[in-house]
Amino acid sequence: MTNYKLFENFDFPSRIFQNEGVFEPSFIPECLLHREGELATLAQYFKPILSKSSPTLGTHVVVQGSVGLGKTTIVKQFGNTLEQYSRNKIRENISSFRFFHLNCRRQRSWSILFTTILRQLVPAFPIRGFSAAELLTYIGTILNERNQKLLLCLDEIDYLISTTKGQDILYALIRNNEGNMTEFNFPLSLIFITRSPYLYIYLDSALYSSLSKRMIVFHRYTTTQLYDILIARAKHGLNTTTYTNEVIKEIAIVAHASGDARYALELLWRAGKVAEGEQSNEITFEHVRKAQVSSFPIKQSLITDLPLHQKFVLFSIASILRRQSDSMYVLTADIKQKYESICQANGLNARKQTQFWVYMQELHKIGLIRLEVINRHNKGKSLGRTGKVSISDFPLAELLQLLQSDLFEK
Ligand SMILES: Nc1ncnc2c1ncn2[C@@H]1O[C@H](COP(=O)(O)OP(=O)(O)OP(=O)(O)O)[C@@H](O)[C@H]1O
Ligand SMILES: [Mg+2]
Repeated sequence: MTNYKLFENFDFPSRIFQNEGVFEPSFIPECLLHREGELATLAQYFKPILSKSSPTLGTHVVVQGSVGLGKTTIVKQFGNTLEQYSRNKIRENISSFRFFHLNCRRQRSWSILFTTILRQLVPAFPIRGFSAAELLTYIGTILNERNQKLLLCLDEIDYLISTTKGQDILYALIRNNEGNMTEFNFPLSLIFITRSPYLYIYLDSALYSSLSKRMIVFHRYTTTQLYDILIARAKHGLNTTTYTNEVIKEIAIVAHASGDARYALELLWRAGKVAEGEQSNEITFEHVRKAQVSSFPIKQSLITDLPLHQKFVLFSIASILRRQSDSMYVLTADIKQKYESICQANGLNARKQTQFWVYMQELHKIGLIRLEVINRHNKGKSLGRTGKVSISDFPLAELLQLLQSDLFEK
């Protein structure tokens, strides 16, 4: 029988939300607060290539900063503004730009990235059969014909260049900008976005020195900045009588440790959902507390569903990190040692090095840890790889408690 009761208690319109859409990850706020300096710096870096008669083909900028600091949002806004400005011919002698923002976690090879661009330029472009270099040459030809310059943002670039394989094209692109003739002789500017301050680990030193010339570091938002961002979003998304400045301040304080605007906004949205679920007319401190707790169970099943040895590896990471207060990172060698001793204490055979690495990489892919792989070389000879591991997305105490009861108290 159909259970209509399921929907009977819903309030339409919502008591709490005026426009819930403003809390969607895809929402781009009109006003980006407290990033005016970063936007102005970006614009400055692009000044030399704006002019039609610019002698340089392009430029490249690296934007670096941890989770939820507005990197993607700011660069997208910059790129879209540049494209519109150049399209509307607000000033003479300004080059015309096409802006593309692509995420390298979703599009993990140069060929896929370039095909995506080509399909937007020429919708009927065949999907297969071309090398990355050929695809890029096509892009150049099309844009040259249209008299347009390309501004390409490669977001989460780490996913593309964590292997040496991705670096040849990167080299060619950068050389192209530095005035050296390459097969892709067309105006192409790049903005790379990375969370990692260790991008150089993957890169050849010449490439890194060229990239690091123009780097913009995004810093964590302060409590006051988070408060301003939250208030601005609350005004758009919530009914006016449903929140107080004190509740918003509390959320800003909770989110301050990470300085992460995404987390702050998500917490506000969750608190709103809790309030709505309880048919309350306003968001209270208790709703904020409940919202904090409710964000954890999403990951809980991710953790409890892991294979046994992977849980031991995660437990090893979390317990080392919990004990050290001076560093956010732990080295894979130390993790392996801890993991082996836990296995021994529990009468299990620890998995070998190769399997251990597979576990680390899988944990990274799921998003439970962040793994930075360092391939060590000496005079061209490989000395093997090591890795730095961190956990930033959830409280270690809760993670350890969960693993402790799952692994040892059953
Ligand atoms: N200055 C700001 N003003 C208003 N909203 C902001 C600001 N900075 C970030 N946000 C919001 O915070 C969320 C996260 O921003 P964004 O996705 O740009 O972060 P990011 O630095 O790219 O994070 P990640 O490294 O996880 O990709 C978005 O919803 C965005 O709208
Ligand atoms: Mg981003």
